[in-house]
Amino acid sequence: MKNTYSIALLPGDGTGPEVTREAVKVIDAAASKFGFTLDYTPYDFGGERYLKTGETLPDSAIEEFRKHQAIYLGAIGHPDVKPGILECGILLKTRFELDQYINLRPVKLYRQDDCPLKDKTPEDVDFVVIRENTGGIYTGLGGVVQQGTPLEVATQVMLYSRPVVDRCMKYAYEYARRRNRKKMLTLVHKCNVLTHCGDLWVRAHKEMGDRDYPDIRQDYNHVDACTMWLVKQPEWYDVIVTENLFGDIITDLAAIVQGGLGVAAGGNINPEGVSMFECMGGSAPKYTGKNIINPIAAIAAGGMMLDTLGETDAAAAVDRAVTAALNSGKIKSLAAGRMGLGTSEVGDLVASTL
Ligand code: IPM
Ligand code: MN
Repeated sequence: MKNTYSIALLPGDGTGPEVTREAVKVIDAAASKFGFTLDYTPYDFGGERYLKTGETLPDSAIEEFRKHQAIYLGAIGHPDVKPGILECGILLKTRFELDQYINLRPVKLYRQDDCPLKDKTPEDVDFVVIRENTGGIYTGLGGVVQQGTPLEVATQVMLYSRPVVDRCMKYAYEYARRRNRKKMLTLVHKCNVLTHCGDLWVRAHKEMGDRDYPDIRQDYNHVDACTMWLVKQPEWYDVIVTENLFGDIITDLAAIVQGGLGVAAGGNINPEGVSMFECMGGSAPKYTGKNIINPIAAIAAGGMMLDTLGETDAAAAVDRAVTAALNSGKIKSLAAGRMGLGTSEVGDLVASTL
């Protein structure tokens, strides 16, 4: 019997619905080729709904999400909504409530011309960042007193427990082993200054590696140095593991190294639960409805979703189709409005290449 996967589909704001449409087009094509089906339940959470109803993401939606096998998110962000409301109310709430403790960001350059770095080829830019996704400063522990007075005090604490570091580290080591490339796991932190949290991560990395993963080489970068090496020598990296805020920052740097937000995709993963996939670009309000936004990142996020659902052959086929479409000569640039094709034509091209 055919496998059917139930997917919560959140197209979201701005260009989110346009890129989601193309992602669905491609993963549906992959599903029919590889003999499974995707059953979507649409949700209209995002800026429009918030402006109409004051609601970001009700608890009942989280309960519904738990019954799906994955969540696909287009983009959220609305010019008329104050920054932070939708990010915290929808994206971070889902990450926390569903304990999506891994942010998985494959960084892959599909074509040499898209790389802003001189002389770097697709062979040089091919690594994965595993960002811890629910801990650290993002937990929001801390507070503010005497707000608005000259003596205002604010704190926001980098909070990590050993089990939270260990579960992330285990995922990263397993990933490096499964990926089977350089078999190297680079820990990125700032242990020369963050002597408490950094030391916790350094010991977790070393102890788990020594004990359970003797086949994986252990490597370490301070985060500031990592930003230099990512530009100078991206070919050094295989799998990077890092805490939440550092991961947030270096994955944006990595996105531009791989050609920009048009191609950068990610997954918010709960290895034991329900994961959520998204393209890294925002809702790009100014491009909305013009059929000029690049859907490749959204399509790649769809491929990652298939991989996590266990449809690894279909996921690999989506990745090959994306690579082939980008190297067909038909897509001039990755930038919105300069692709030489419309959003839907790029989706058609990838789907037909499958
Ligand atoms: C990301 C984003 C989010 C984050 C924001 C929108 C809350 O930048 O997914 O990287 O900081 O994690
Ligand atoms: Mn970010």
